[in-house]
Amino acid sequence: MFGSRSTRDVGAGPGEAPAPVTDALGRPLRKLRISLTDRCNLRCAYCMPREEYTWLPREHLLSFDELGRLVRLLAPLGVAHLRLTGGEPLLRPSLADLVARLGAVGGIRSVSLTTNGLLLADSAAALRRAGLAGLTISLDTLRRERFTTLTRRDELPAVLAGLDAAVEAGFERMKTNTVVMRGFNDDELVDIVEAARARDVQPRFIEYMDVGGATDWRPEHVVPRPEILARLEARYGPAQQLENRDGAPADRFAFSDGFVVGVISSTSLPFCRKCDRARLTSDGHLLKCLYAHEGLDVRSLLRGTATDAELAERLAEEWRAREDRGAELRLAEPMRGPFVAADALLRNPHLEMHNRGG
Ligand code: GTP
Ligand code: 5AD
Ligand code: SF4
Repeated sequence: MFGSRSTRDVGAGPGEAPAPVTDALGRPLRKLRISLTDRCNLRCAYCMPREEYTWLPREHLLSFDELGRLVRLLAPLGVAHLRLTGGEPLLRPSLADLVARLGAVGGIRSVSLTTNGLLLADSAAALRRAGLAGLTISLDTLRRERFTTLTRRDELPAVLAGLDAAVEAGFERMKTNTVVMRGFNDDELVDIVEAARARDVQPRFIEYMDVGGATDWRPEHVVPRPEILARLEARYGPAQQLENRDGAPADRFAFSDGFVVGVISSTSLPFCRKCDRARLTSDGHLLKCLYAHEGLDVRSLLRGTATDAELAERLAEEWRAREDRGAELRLAEPMRGPFVAADALLRNPHLEMHNRGG
C-alpha cells in the first residue's frame, strides 16, 4: 500500500541514497513550507484576531542548524522547493543567512518567502543577494483605514514601501496574496490587480478559508472563484485558464493582453488530490496537511539520538502513510463553521495558522 520499498532500505546502507517517496494516495513529496516563528507584527482578523498571544518558548523554535539538517534529509525524499512563512518570517533574525544555507542544500531548486511585507524595505536586497527566488506579499486592501481595521496596525504605507523595495531588488517570481472577504475588500479586486500589474507582480486572490485563527469564518463571507473571476472579467474581458503544471494551489487565468491572475480556491474547489506539500510548524512538528490536528514531533527527533539514516527513514515512513485530504473533507461537511473553536485554539497553539504556516 505504501510502495514497494522495505522499511530497512531507505538510507540504510553506507552510501546508499534514500529514494523519493509517495504517499498512500500516490502523491509525491515535493514542497516543504517552513514556519519560522509563530510571532507576527500584524493581527489580521482572519488569522490572529486577538491582540495578545502566548508565544512559544524561543528554545522550541528550530535552529538554523536543525532546519539545515532536516532539509538535507528531506531533499533525497523528493523535497525540491522550500517556502518560508510564519507568523511573520522577517521577524526571525539573520533570515538571509538561512535562505543562503537552505538554498545550498543539494536537490533544493528554490527557496521562496511569504511575508506581510512590513519589514521588507530594509531586507529585500539582502534576501535577493542570498538567492531567494520567489517572494509573495500579503496585500488584502489598498485603503489605509481598511488595512488598519483588518490588521489593527496603521502600517499600509510600510507594506507598500516593502513591496516597492522588493520590486526594485528584482526577484524572479513576485506575487501578492489577497484573501477575499465578502463585504470587506471584494470591491477592491480590480484596484489590487492594477497595483500589482503596475509593478509587474502577479496578483492572487484567495478564497477565505476556515482554518486556524479564522474563528469568525462563515460560509457567506467566502467569495467563490466564479464570482472573483466575474468581477475581473467585467473589467478585463474573458479570462482563459492556464494549465496547472506543478500542483500549485493557485489556478492561473490569463486576460486578453496576457496579464495573469492567480486564484486559490481551496475552500470551494480543494486541490488535495494534487497536494505535494508538507509543512513544518515553527516548533518543529511536521504536518501532512493544513488541516491536520497533529504532526510528527521532528524537534524531539532532531534533539534526540537518532542518526541521519534513522531520521530519514522515520520521515519517509510518515509520508508513505499519508492519506490526508483535509480541505476535501471540510467541503463535505454539511454545517460548515470555523475549523477550530476559539477556546480550542487557546489550548492548542499547534492549530494556529501563524504557527503552522498559512
Ligand atoms: P507557491 O505554490 O510557491 O506559489 O506557494 P503557495 O501558493 O503555497 O504560497 P502562499 O504562501 O502564497 O500560500 C497561498 C495560499 O494557499 C495560502 O494562503 C493558503 O490559503 C493556500 N494554501 C497554501 N498551502 C495550502 C495547503 O497545503 N492546503 C490548502 N488547502 N491550502 C493551502
Ligand atoms: N484564509 C485564507 N488565507 C489565509 N491566510 C492566512 N489565513 C487565511 C485564511 N483564513 C493567508 C495569508 C497569507 C498566506 C500565507 O495565508 O493571507 O497570504
Ligand atoms: Fe500575520 Fe500573516 Fe497571520 Fe496576517 S496572515 S496575522 S500577516 S501571520
